[in-house]
Amino acid sequence: MVRKKIELTDEPVDPGGQPETRTGEPLELGFFAWNIRGGMTMSKATLRNNDRERDFWKWPNSRRLVEQAEAIGFDYQVPFGRWVGSGGETDFNGAALDFLASAAATAPITSRMGLFSTCHITFKFHPLHIAKFGATIDHISNGRWGLNIVSGYQAQEMAAFGLDPISHDEAYEMAEEFTVLMKYLWTEPEPFDFEGKYYQSYGAVVEPRPTRRPRPVLMNAGMSTRGLTFGARNVDWIFTLAADLEGYRAKVDEAHSLAGKYNRSIRAATMSWVLPEATDELAQEKFEELRSEIDREALLGYARQLKGVDRWKDQESQELDDDPYAGLGREFYESYSLGFTSPQLVGSPETIAEKMRALHQEAGLESLLLCFEDPQKGLHTMEDDILPILRKMGLRR
Ligand SMILES: Cc1cc2nc3c(=O)[nH]c(=O)nc-3n(C[C@H](O)[C@H](O)[C@H](O)COP(=O)(O)O)c2cc1C
Repeated sequence: MVRKKIELTDEPVDPGGQPETRTGEPLELGFFAWNIRGGMTMSKATLRNNDRERDFWKWPNSRRLVEQAEAIGFDYQVPFGRWVGSGGETDFNGAALDFLASAAATAPITSRMGLFSTCHITFKFHPLHIAKFGATIDHISNGRWGLNIVSGYQAQEMAAFGLDPISHDEAYEMAEEFTVLMKYLWTEPEPFDFEGKYYQSYGAVVEPRPTRRPRPVLMNAGMSTRGLTFGARNVDWIFTLAADLEGYRAKVDEAHSLAGKYNRSIRAATMSWVLPEATDELAQEKFEELRSEIDREALLGYARQLKGVDRWKDQESQELDDDPYAGLGREFYESYSLGFTSPQLVGSPETIAEKMRALHQEAGLESLLLCFEDPQKGLHTMEDDILPILRKMGLRR
C-alpha cells in the first residue's frame, strides 16, 4: 500500500478540529512554577524560610501542593521549564523537576485537573518524541495532559544542548512545523510521510493515540507579534503579558483577531505572581522585605540569559555587571525579580480578588496562571479567603 503523504501549505492545520478546553469556570485558574527552585521570586529573603519559599518544589512537598491545588478547585497545573538556572546566592531556578516526568508523576495523584508540560521544542526534540510521551501521559491521566510550547530564547540553554542560538523568528518557524507534524502524529490512524524544512518523518504512527480527541490542549506564551501569530495559528490558549489593563485588552483583542483571521478559536490568559497577607499593609511589608533583598547576582545571571550573553565566556557581560540594575532599568529590575514582569497581586484577599476580577472582566483574560511567593500559604489563603470572594463575584462556581 502506498503511504499517505501530508502536503504542507501555508494554512494553519487542526486535523479533526480543536479540542474543547472549557472547564465551565468563568475564570479558570492554573497553578504555575511549583516544580522549580525559587519559582518566580528572586530574593534572598526567601532563604530564611527556605523549605516554603524557595525549595517547595521538592517531592513529596510539591506532590502535596499539586494535590491541594486540585482539591481546592484549580483547573490545571503548569511547570516552569528551564534547563539552566540564573545563579546568585539563591541559586535561582537552579533545580527543577522535569516537565514530562512531573506531568506523569502528577497524573495518578490527581483526577480532574489539567496537567501541562512546558517544552522548548527547539532543543532538538523530534515531534515524534513529544507526541509519543504526551500521548502516554494523556492515556495515563485519562485525557488531561496538555503542552505549553516554548520556542526557547536563551543562548545558555541552547549551548547546554550543544546548539548555536537561532533567531527569534526562525525558532517560531521551527515551532510551527513541529506543532503541525505533532498534530498529525496524534490524529492519523495509519503510518504517513511528512517532509518539512526542519522535520521529516516516514511511516510513523502513535498508538495509543491521545485519549482527549481530537488531540491534547496546546498553549503558548508568546509576547511578540511573531509569538502571538504562532499562537493564533497553532494553539488553543495564548498566555500573554502587558503593563496594565489597557495593554492587556489590546493584546487580548489582537490575539482574538489574529485567530479569527485563521478561522481558529483561541482563549487568552496571563500569569500572575501572588503575595497574599491578612491586610494590605502586611502584604506591602512582606513585599518590601523581598524587594530590599533582591538577589542581584541571580538577576544579573537572568539578564545575561535574556540578552543572549554567554555567562561563561562573553566580555559583554561586564557592562551588565557594572550597571546597578543589570541593564534592565530599575522598574524592570524589580518586576523581573518579583514575578518575571507579570501582574503582582499583592495585598489582602479582597485586594487580590478585585485585581483578579479586573484582569478577567476588564481585560478579557479567561484564565490566570498563578505563581505564589509561598505556595503553601498561598493555596491556604486561596481556599479560605480568596476563592469565597471570587465565588461571590460570580467568577468561580
Ligand atoms: C505564562 C508564561 C509561561 C512561560 N513559561 C516559560 C517556560 O517555562 N520556559 C521558558 O523558557 N519560557 C517561558 N516563557 C517565555 C515565553 O515562552 C516567551 O519566550 C516569552 O514570553 C517571549 O515571547 P516571544 O517569544 O514572543 O518574544 C513563559 C512566558 C509566559 C508568559
